[in-house]
Amino acid sequence: MPQHPSRLMFAACWSLVALFAIAQDPAAKLPAKPLKDIPPAVMENVHQLSANVYSSGGPNGEVAFETLAKLGIKTIISVDGAQPDLVNAKKFGLKYVHVPIGYDALPKEKALLIAKAVKESKGPVLIHCHHGKHRGPAAAAVACVTVDNWTPEQALAWMKQAGTSPNYAQLIKDAGSFQKPLAAELDKIPADLPEAVAPTPLVDAMLKIDDRFDTVLKHFNVAIDVKGPNWKQATTDAIQLDEDFREFQRLPAVTKLPVDFQKLAADMQKSAAELHLAIEALAAGKVKDTAPARDLVTRMQQQCVTCHKQYRDQK
Ligand code: HEC
Repeated sequence: MPQHPSRLMFAACWSLVALFAIAQDPAAKLPAKPLKDIPPAVMENVHQLSANVYSSGGPNGEVAFETLAKLGIKTIISVDGAQPDLVNAKKFGLKYVHVPIGYDALPKEKALLIAKAVKESKGPVLIHCHHGKHRGPAAAAVACVTVDNWTPEQALAWMKQAGTSPNYAQLIKDAGSFQKPLAAELDKIPADLPEAVAPTPLVDAMLKIDDRFDTVLKHFNVAIDVKGPNWKQATTDAIQLDEDFREFQRLPAVTKLPVDFQKLAADMQKSAAELHLAIEALAAGKVKDTAPARDLVTRMQQQCVTCHKQYRDQK
């Protein structure tokens, strides 16, 4: 039936009113509700996307799992490389499903595993990666397309809200174009998905390096007026980071990679060795100025990003 012109006018005015309302209150249109009461030390970036789906960073310690149980979560899906904390999850009767993904893409076969785990869950699910910004939100979008009939626009708006970086263009594209799977597609997947998947040697080495680097960073963030950084301990940590990168270069998974990759790894190890010397000088009181060591740390952060941009974040 052809629309009456006045109806079209009405619809047009209504859209304007709606647009105006969104401009007035952008929060009203955000796809997910941030759960701001949960401290980041317990879980970062916790959001509720629907009655069925939550997204966050990794749950830290017993209190995090207790919080999740209180929210009514029944299944936790980790897309992080690290091993899930099964002991604490079990204490609160929470089931884990582990589907590690990279930053370079969300391949359909992995997306279907996530969809299957959400479908099988006996109640709401929490999907997490490490910090809850990139991989986890992409996987959570897939979950909402599957059980909440989200459109691609909703999926993209949610990843924007979560702060998913455009550096992970393929990850965003894959999650934003995921289509609600057919029952037959999901039927083919076994219901008993693994609760923990062993990391590949490369991911394992990176997770160790990530933890160690975090510890080194913490020494620089200690409030000087409280106690001052423990430079002795920092030296030990810097030596270990140097060792980690030496070991990393010897991994068969690494020696197979292009020469340019090996060069980036070698440069990183040199920085770690320099940092170790710089911190040692601070520990011995030979140097008082922390600026050179701080500069080294900044250079190392850039080196992580340089290698990731080239070898981790894109296909
Ligand atoms: C020489 C290259 C290179 C350097 C330098 C490097 N990385 Fe990586 N990193 C990688 C690659 C490649 C991956 C992806 C591995 C995979 O998914 O197979 C990765 C993955 C990771 C991951 C994700 C692990 C997961 O859950 O899947 C973290 C975290 C990480 N790196 C932290 C760091 C930090 C912190 C630094 C700097 C101190 C660093 N990396 C330096 C190459 C590098």
